[in-house]
Amino acid sequence: MRLRTRFTVIMLIVYLVSLPVIAMGSYFVLKNNAIKEILEEANLMLAAMEGVRGYTGQVLRPALQKLLPGKFVIEGMSATKVAYGVQLRMRKKLPRYSFKEATENPLNLVNKADGFEMKKLNQFRQGILKTEWRGFKETPDGRYYVIMRPVSVKAACLKCHGNPNAAPPEVVKRYGTKHGYGWKVGEIVTVNSVYVPAEVPIQNARRALITFTAIYSGIFLFVLFVIDRLIIGNIIRPIESFVSTAEDISRGKMSREFEVTTNDEMKSLADAFTRMKISLAKAMDILKKR
Ligand code: HEC
Repeated sequence: MRLRTRFTVIMLIVYLVSLPVIAMGSYFVLKNNAIKEILEEANLMLAAMEGVRGYTGQVLRPALQKLLPGKFVIEGMSATKVAYGVQLRMRKKLPRYSFKEATENPLNLVNKADGFEMKKLNQFRQGILKTEWRGFKETPDGRYYVIMRPVSVKAACLKCHGNPNAAPPEVVKRYGTKHGYGWKVGEIVTVNSVYVPAEVPIQNARRALITFTAIYSGIFLFVLFVIDRLIIGNIIRPIESFVSTAEDISRGKMSREFEVTTNDEMKSLADAFTRMKISLAKAMDILKKR
């Protein structure tokens, strides 16, 4: 194989071996960052919703109760209602972010657990899952990252979620008496679930990987091109010129000179060849004179 071809092939092999290693390495890093980003978003969403629930229970409800003793204003006193309303408004800007108090037997049917949530709810009940579940969920409108936390019933909850006959009239009037009651103390009734879209950061990571690979390939090809030019100019051309000069000299054209324009190893080689040519010429002269 010619020098230039050999060098190009070696460089291409280096490229082909390094490309998957670099691509896989950077995909790993990018994907990890994307997942970290998704986790942070989900944590943020969960913290916001828990903040809303906490504020409603600790500040809003007592303040309203003081003003309206004995009354139950669902819109302002139910942490569930407030959190649901807040996330509904958030979704106008962030359509695929949501929070749901997914419940097997809810007062408000918007909180009814779907098949996936029921499965997780039952796993919490059976103790297969403990305090939290985090993971991905595939749906027809894309992939979500989900955090779920179980909620168990306390004695105070039964005031509204126990016997419908004992529930505040506002609750019975709004939701009827058919569902949302009969909860038992200690029973896990709900999984508070946060959903955040998971494919956007991963798609961004993929896109970044494609750009990165393209840039790497571009730089590699450019370097390959530059090195190729350098090899041609600095090694191959001088060698070809030496070969043709040496051939001419071997055929007796002693006037030919070994020429180089650079001042490097090629120059030393040319000088050595020139000295050899001079010695040869002298030797031939001596031979001729005999
Ligand atoms: C004063 C009445 C009242 C009390 C006490 C109460 N809730 Fe509720 N709860 C409601 C109402 C009203 C809703 C429906 C809100 C809505 O429309 O989203 C609700 C909804 C829920 C939901 C969503 C599922 C559903 O039924 O729609 C969960 C979960 C829940 N409550 C848990 C609890 C827990 C846990 C406690 C005790 C720590 C509790 N609630 C105490 C009134 C109450």
